Amino acid sequence: MSDCFMNTYRRLPATFTRGEGAFLFDGNGKRFLDFTSGIAVNCLGHAYPALVKAISDQSARFNHVSNYFQSDVTERFAQKLVEACSGADMKKVFLGNSGAEANEAAFKIARKYSLKKHGPGRHAIVTLKGSFHGRTITALSATGQDKFHKDFGPFTEGFKYAPPGDIPALDRALDSTVAGLLLEAVQGEAGVRPLDGAYVEAAAKLCAERDILLMFDEIQCGVGRTGSFLACEGFGVKPDVVTLAKGLAGGAPVGAALAGEKAADTLGIGDHGSTFGGNPLAAAAGLVVLEIVNDPAFLKEIARKGEKLRGIIRSWNKPNVKEVRGKGLMVGVDIEEDAWGVLEKALEKGVLSLSAGAKTLRFLPPYIIRDEEIESGLRILEEIL
Ligand SMILES: Cc1ncc(COP(=O)(O)O)c(C=O)c1O
Repeated sequence: MSDCFMNTYRRLPATFTRGEGAFLFDGNGKRFLDFTSGIAVNCLGHAYPALVKAISDQSARFNHVSNYFQSDVTERFAQKLVEACSGADMKKVFLGNSGAEANEAAFKIARKYSLKKHGPGRHAIVTLKGSFHGRTITALSATGQDKFHKDFGPFTEGFKYAPPGDIPALDRALDSTVAGLLLEAVQGEAGVRPLDGAYVEAAAKLCAERDILLMFDEIQCGVGRTGSFLACEGFGVKPDVVTLAKGLAGGAPVGAALAGEKAADTLGIGDHGSTFGGNPLAAAAGLVVLEIVNDPAFLKEIARKGEKLRGIIRSWNKPNVKEVRGKGLMVGVDIEEDAWGVLEKALEKGVLSLSAGAKTLRFLPPYIIRDEEIESGLRILEEIL
């Protein structure tokens, strides 16, 4: 491993040189079954032929044009993305490059919407304890976990955290200073914890009554990962803003903030921007992801494979497996031992997995994973546990 990187990631000792389907390979040809998808990014696996072709064809045309002009491929991608989010009544999109950037756009939308409609002093954003919204100073301010805040203050003013599942506490938090509420339908970094349906319904009702923007951070759980294109569709509520990134372009960097009727026209000319936002390479890749993933039969398969994965783990009856949670191909497993130790042993045996906290394993396999690959990867993890 090179020592020229800043030491920001605790890394496992594997250097990959190529990938195919649900597998990555190192320079010695050793094969690793990928239960991580690059943290929910490579949703179509590695070297997916249509994705490879779309990116290389687009690169042969042009890699980038400024947002002061239009690119045919980015226009098509934006249109298809808004259509894919029609289940949540999204109307317009702002394209960026990452999840944190998508959330920054969401905060600006909520603040400006509130300022224009209700005047100053109503700019706070409520998020949940345990949430994760990104690493920029403002996205960190939104993140409801102290461990990420250490050493980096002062933070952006105006963020408050409510405990998930506690409706009276949310009622108190959504006071006259609040412009927006940002929720993860399934909290990923907190250990894969789906929000309770009654809680989300109550949140939507409170937001509607108080004209507070209801926003979903679907950066980890969106783009089909839970078995519906947006995870919030499962709650039957209509958000005002949805943010996406990670899997949206199958591995190319992209981020998106979408808005429904209320806030679709809040941002005007000069209010926001991003040099790379809507980059044609990412847009070409995103079009492939949308075409493949936003298909009811494909989404159904994601849900089925997720059920299968959780079902197998539950059937182990292992005393050191405490709880299995998740939705679709987003799975959290609480264990009694150090999760990092399990990741190290799994790597040795050719399986890549993630943790979410000291004692939670997290699996985010690519959607194209086969049943026999799920079974073989889990056999190895079962032995380790
Ligand atoms: C729910 C959620 N929001 C935001 C982010 C930040 O995304 P990015 O790392 O692309 O900035 C992440 C990344 O893990 C995430 O899981």
